[in-house]
Amino acid sequence: MAKIIDGKKEAAAIRAQIKSQIDKITIQQTEKVNLDVILVGHNPASEVYVRLKEKACAEVGIVSCKHTPPTDIALKDLLLLVDQLNEDSNVNGILLQLPLPSHLNISKVLDRIDPIKDVDGFHPINVGLLSQNQAKLLPCTPAGCVELLDRYNIPIQGKHAVIVGRSNIVGKPLATMLLHRNATVSICHSKTVDLAAITLQADILVTALGIPEMIKAGMVKEGAVVIDVGINRVENQLVGDVAFAEVAEKASWITPVPGGVGPMTIAMLLSNTLTAYRLQQTKS
Ligand code: GUN
Repeated sequence: MAKIIDGKKEAAAIRAQIKSQIDKITIQQTEKVNLDVILVGHNPASEVYVRLKEKACAEVGIVSCKHTPPTDIALKDLLLLVDQLNEDSNVNGILLQLPLPSHLNISKVLDRIDPIKDVDGFHPINVGLLSQNQAKLLPCTPAGCVELLDRYNIPIQGKHAVIVGRSNIVGKPLATMLLHRNATVSICHSKTVDLAAITLQADILVTALGIPEMIKAGMVKEGAVVIDVGINRVENQLVGDVAFAEVAEKASWITPVPGGVGPMTIAMLLSNTLTAYRLQQTKS
């Protein structure tokens, strides 16, 4: 029976650490650490995530400011907002909540964010730095996954890590991070032939595909470490990509949904905001 990787508990510990560091900044320098969030339109899931991010900021003493342009905002006006935030020296972090309405080109907006304020680590400069193992601002969800493995002293080096999902937000950056930690990495996706044959080889299995309980016990090796990034709403309940009860019988470690990777993503966002603030201090 698997032991639980408690992301909720670890995220609370990280938030407490960040709070004490932010308290020092605000007391010594009478300055604030600021995160500006852009939420375009009314995607219900995005509204929930942004509310959680704002609450976490308030808890650690980061001042958050939410910008809520309408769904039909023109690209040029959204870029203008990004420009204003880039130029505002009081703004330390800029987070563009994804997805965007379909008429807006995500890359065009992400590419406009000043890389030093890019707390999601999605700007091409930060993606390139990650690829060279030089990044200071790492994408939050994959950083949260690696942090969980480290906090539970789960070895990565030499292990076969199988990632199901190849998104720019999770799968691809996580593959790079695990490679830098000397894992042997496989990335599976919707066109992978015989998915189970590959997931069955995983010492560390990370699922980020967004299909409720798609990963069954028969796809998991005995003793594997299972990290479930999926957050799917089914009949008003949150479930992961992993069929938790049956996979927990086989795994050695497993993250629950909710209470696994989700809170760690937000903790990493707070950590990146503090990092961005410090990068800006040393630059000026
Ligand atoms: N939408 C889903 N995940 C994320 C994330 O990590 N960052 C942003 N900005 N939007 C998201």
